[in-house]
Amino acid sequence: MEQRLQKIIADAGITSRRKAEELMLQGRVSVNGQVITQLGSKADVARDHVRVDGKLLRGPGRHIYLLLNKPVGYVSTVSDPERRPTVISLLRGVKERVYPVGRLDYHSSGLLLLTNDGALANLLMSRASAIPRTYHVKLEGRPEPSALAKLEQGIVLDGRRTAPARIRLLAEREKPWYEITLTEGRYHQVRRMFERLGQAVVKLKRVRIAFLSEEGLAPGHFRHLTAAEVNRLRNWKGVG
Ligand code: URA
Repeated sequence: MEQRLQKIIADAGITSRRKAEELMLQGRVSVNGQVITQLGSKADVARDHVRVDGKLLRGPGRHIYLLLNKPVGYVSTVSDPERRPTVISLLRGVKERVYPVGRLDYHSSGLLLLTNDGALANLLMSRASAIPRTYHVKLEGRPEPSALAKLEQGIVLDGRRTAPARIRLLAEREKPWYEITLTEGRYHQVRRMFERLGQAVVKLKRVRIAFLSEEGLAPGHFRHLTAAEVNRLRNWKGVG
């Protein structure tokens, strides 16, 4: 079956479709030995030899799906120019090249999905999927309830309104803990939302992704998702 090259590259788990287009424009993608820079070009992975940086893409191989409980002090990228430890270094015994689905900041902890299934990763990261992610945050001080209500309704970040969020108080302290559930994952979104209220986030932990929780998963440990869990994510419609 012929498909656009950027889709083939994204589905192989190399990178997103948009980044795949950049790779093409940079002349790093070839089909049957010929460099292809035309963005609409198609190929058939089962028949053609598609290479990125000279490396042959296999047809759809074994997809794996991992749920990691990331500790503080790891970057959620495959490599780090500052040579800080990466989440990939925690995946002992995993031979496949997997990629984090979205990011958790270096100073954040909690649940992170990793996979080599580019199609599912792109689906989960798309705004349309609206997968809820729940965080526990410790704040420097106590925001006004009316200010929290505004955050829930949505505020403008980078010129675009945030989707409705749910916030509840978990522990009433001088530095209180809140739970916040978002259905989108923008850059440093939780930290930036609370900072808008003048409250710095001093701890941030992702405790749920859709129906997946950290139950039984100690910090630094990971597990494979079951086939049923993968299907549930693939068919996510906001239930469960
Ligand atoms: N929002 C943030 O600000 N940081 C994270 O790590 C995750 C969500």
